[in-house]
Amino acid sequence: MGKDTIFMKQIDLTDKIAVVTGGSRGIGESIARSLASLGAEVVLVSRKIEGLTEVENRIKADGGKAVSIPCNTGNLNEIESLFSQIKSRYDKLDILVNNSATNPFFGSNIDAPESAWDKTMSVNLKGYFYMTQHAAKMMLGKVAGSIINISSVNGIRPAPMQGMYSITKAGVISMTQSWAKELAPFNIRVNAVLPGITDTKFSSVMTQNEEILKKMILPNIPMKRIAQPDEIAGAVVYLASDAASFTTGACIVVDGGMLA
Ligand SMILES: NC(=O)c1ccc[n+]([C@@H]2O[C@H](COP(=O)([O-])OP(=O)(O)OC[C@H]3O[C@@H](n4cnc5c(N)ncnc54)[C@H](OP(=O)(O)O)[C@@H]3O)[C@@H](O)[C@H]2O)c1
Repeated sequence: MGKDTIFMKQIDLTDKIAVVTGGSRGIGESIARSLASLGAEVVLVSRKIEGLTEVENRIKADGGKAVSIPCNTGNLNEIESLFSQIKSRYDKLDILVNNSATNPFFGSNIDAPESAWDKTMSVNLKGYFYMTQHAAKMMLGKVAGSIINISSVNGIRPAPMQGMYSITKAGVISMTQSWAKELAPFNIRVNAVLPGITDTKFSSVMTQNEEILKKMILPNIPMKRIAQPDEIAGAVVYLASDAASFTTGACIVVDGGMLA
């Protein structure tokens, strides 16, 4: 069988414009590179331009298309400015991946300060919500759109010492379903991916600690290993593409069997 199968046509993203937040490293970088490899032009978003341009250069070296726009996705003024740049550059948007997140407080809920609450809610919930609102306004009236929110297994099963973070990830699941229902009549699909523990900077405080990894993490994962970022990106590519044209409001768990 050649490459010209129905599925290959469905996942072809040629001429699509995709925004990936947190695109400068980790899971976001894998998502951005995967989308670009299928033909999408990717707008890479995070706070620091250095990391973004490194990923942009890697995508271009592989023959793909990307641009970098710095933006703190916890700040509504910066989100507004991001979308005005996207509008003037492309005047259309096909795919949004809300992936940037923060987890500034690792500890028990009883000790958690308000500053950590405000930061976690701003980036992980308010940012996802208003990024989606701006994207939806650009997608309305067009043929289709796909919005993918990166939640976490913690959104279903809160992890110890990560209370606030887990609350936001549960909120992302509800937000996904709410936007999915509202936007379905306009052929804008909204779905979530729930990664299990993945080998990135974000999780390194736990995964680089042999004791935590061997005693607390791996015993809970039937596949007995953590994920690599590229193993999360596949689910996002599927949801971004026409292969998922009847899928909205869904939560795809990618966790090596942890929640089974
Ligand atoms: N790693 C895991 O085990 C795991 C498991 C489940 C779910 N997740 C989820 O997967 C997503 C990606 O995590 P990751 O592990 O890839 O993390 P990561 O390697 O630490 O990358 C985080 C990305 O988000 C950006 N970012 C952070 N705060 C931001 C802000 N306020 N505004 C804009 N960009 C911001 C960072 O770039 P700058 O520093 O330049 O802003 C970076 O590009 C997150 O939603 C996370 O909750 C991760």
